[in-house]
Amino acid sequence: MWIAQITDTHIKQVGKLTYGRVNTASYLERAVARLNAHRPRLDLVVITGDLVDFGHPLEYAHLRQLLEPLTIPYLIIPGNHDERDALRQAFPEHDYLPASGFLHYAIDGRYPLRIVGLDTVVPGDSRGELCEQRLHWLADTLAAQPSAPTLVLMHHPPFVSGIEHMDRIGLTGTPEFAEILRQHPQVQAVLCGHLHRNIFTTVGGRPAICSVGTAHQVALELEGGEPGGFTLEPPGFMLHRWKDGKLLSHAVMLEDFEGPYPFYDANGKLLDE
Ligand SMILES: [Fe+2]
Ligand SMILES: [Fe+2]
Repeated sequence: MWIAQITDTHIKQVGKLTYGRVNTASYLERAVARLNAHRPRLDLVVITGDLVDFGHPLEYAHLRQLLEPLTIPYLIIPGNHDERDALRQAFPEHDYLPASGFLHYAIDGRYPLRIVGLDTVVPGDSRGELCEQRLHWLADTLAAQPSAPTLVLMHHPPFVSGIEHMDRIGLTGTPEFAEILRQHPQVQAVLCGHLHRNIFTTVGGRPAICSVGTAHQVALELEGGEPGGFTLEPPGFMLHRWKDGKLLSHAVMLEDFEGPYPFYDANGKLLDE
């Protein structure tokens, strides 16, 4: 099974630029074309939050329009820039999204991997939260299928990145979350967004993978005290392959580059000048 993870699309209303600078819509158009053309053909796309920039219904309408050409089934979870009710209303056919409350779900039996979406959003706030209710839901959901290999999707990363202004936003409930994962070795990886960077670590003994965004990225500022900012470093996505009981993930850039060029000449000799 091939899964592409895109994240932090931050779509605005038609004609508006994100932070007055980034044409996130044209970035997403290119990403959709690339995902459609991907070989081997993708089985699923997951979008790990910050789908739009201000949670406005017109932004979701624009997002839908941009995702319309996507020929691969996709699953969504909210980020801190999303608004639960506007998101639900914009995607009524995504019936895995609950009609009220948190936008949690488990997709069982449809794919070789079980997909669990976890809502970390606090309305009106940038920070993430795993309150007792959400942690219970996760523990119960994972305990219901302990032998099903599972991917957990969440927007806020359950780890400290070292990028100070992003870590200040934070996610409460992380130690309890890690403890739940420790008890559930069927979790193959936690996929998240929010940091707009490729970051790989472990949480509760499970891989945790954050993807770069499809548009702008968060500056790699690791000394502390920086004001925080974004860059136009190359956008990308994570390509996850589930095969023979193993998950393997490639970080892929969404730009066109020269090549591929051959390593060897027609006689099989390594090219030298
Ligand atoms: Fe974001
Ligand atoms: Fe975010």
